[in-house]
Amino acid sequence: MGRHSLVGGLSIVGGVPLQGRVRVGGRKNSAVALIPAALLAAGPSTIDNVPRISDVDSYIEIITSMGVTVDRPTPHSLRIDPTGLINSVPSTEVVRRLRASYYLWGVLLARFGEAEVGMPGGCDIGQRPIDQHLKGFRALGAEAVIEHGVVKLKARRLVGAPIYLDVVSVGATINIMLAACLAEGTTVIENAAKEPHVVDLANFLNAMGARVVGAGTDVVKIKGIGSGSGGRIRSTGALRGADHAIIPDEIEAATFMVAAVATRGDVVVENVITKHLDPITAKLRETGADIEENGDWVRVRMAGRPKAVNVKTAAYPGFPTDAQQPMTALLSTAEGTSMVTDTIWEARFKHVGELLRMGADIKVEGRTAIINGVERLSGAEVEATDLRAGAALLVAGLMAEGETVVKGIELVERGYEGIEQKFRQLGAQLERLPDEGDEGSAPAQLRVLKSGS
Ligand code: EPU
Repeated sequence: MGRHSLVGGLSIVGGVPLQGRVRVGGRKNSAVALIPAALLAAGPSTIDNVPRISDVDSYIEIITSMGVTVDRPTPHSLRIDPTGLINSVPSTEVVRRLRASYYLWGVLLARFGEAEVGMPGGCDIGQRPIDQHLKGFRALGAEAVIEHGVVKLKARRLVGAPIYLDVVSVGATINIMLAACLAEGTTVIENAAKEPHVVDLANFLNAMGARVVGAGTDVVKIKGIGSGSGGRIRSTGALRGADHAIIPDEIEAATFMVAAVATRGDVVVENVITKHLDPITAKLRETGADIEENGDWVRVRMAGRPKAVNVKTAAYPGFPTDAQQPMTALLSTAEGTSMVTDTIWEARFKHVGELLRMGADIKVEGRTAIINGVERLSGAEVEATDLRAGAALLVAGLMAEGETVVKGIELVERGYEGIEQKFRQLGAQLERLPDEGDEGSAPAQLRVLKSGS
């Protein structure tokens, strides 16, 4: 995401220990897989616990433009009726707003035997290749080419096959699952991603009548239901609609947990699956935090300065790359030197330059950030360069001395629902600044809040 897209700003007066309870919503990366999955059915599905974030809105915009009817029976549920789905080429502009538009490849290929969807967008955090997705589709019998920025897929029939992923990829695992559901015969994905949202998707697909086993392990088997039709492509969805509630967002939970430690607060994070938080909980305990777990909530307390720790991101159940940036912000004030290595995304340190403006002492060498903890950060004007970089800067602002203005907050809203209200509810002093260029409003950087007001 470039600086040109920055509009919104948030002012934070740091130094307030966060206190109280906060409720986590449904998982973004599950929602953006389940929404396209619903298009594999012949009838409507209802998905509950859907976060109100702009990535979900963008997805709804894409599928609505393709003839799908989407209603919101409640603020956090979606009824998706794919009866009117037509195989059209969605607008490149919307497709480029988010990464997960790539799930339309698997879905449209399975439904129509043909798909043309522009290359996806998403956060600028590394190269983000798609070779494993294409390898999977080709193994199922599809032709796959990229022409003029558009992914073009074609298959007369899809036939299940063994597929060994060269790298553990969440996106490729999910895309192959989506396509393989309607294929003829069995697909076996080896070296599959084990993330809980892969399991969430498998549960939804199975409720729709698919036959997926092994999700959550590194071997996922999909018995295609296309066998009855000889694997030939059907133009109506072959699965049935189903009802499903999305699992909690572990990265949203991790962000609040990290912020609680960073501000030396006492926060209960509700509506979580504590097992999914194990890598975060373990690391925060190493910093000296006191963490109590109880099934669907965690209480995070911190007294004093955190200790430096080393972090290496890895596919689940390793430390999630999506929590690396907030964690780096926290470690910038830890006692000692921390080494944070991102093995998943090679360019996920754009937040570091902004942390330096706040007085952090961090050097990035290749995929590793070497963080010499400073006593405290001081507020400054900083810019979110991507979604989790924005979350990292909020954490930094919450612990810094004085006022921080985080610009580009709309990038954070791609993945966090009501982040501003949720932090405020925990006692943080935040104020939304008018967009630059708004008539009659002062430029964002000129607004000052008084500490303690
Ligand atoms: N990779 C390949 N070839 C491929 C696909 C991936 O080499 O065809 C490599 C990537 O370069 C990366 C690794 O495999 O090094 C993992 O990539 P993965 O495919 O798992 O990532 P993704 O599907 O593009 C999803 C999330 C990301 C999250 C990663 C890793 C969605 C929409 N996005 O991306 O979420 O970082 O998995 O867990 O589910 C975020 O929420 O902030 C975010 C960036």
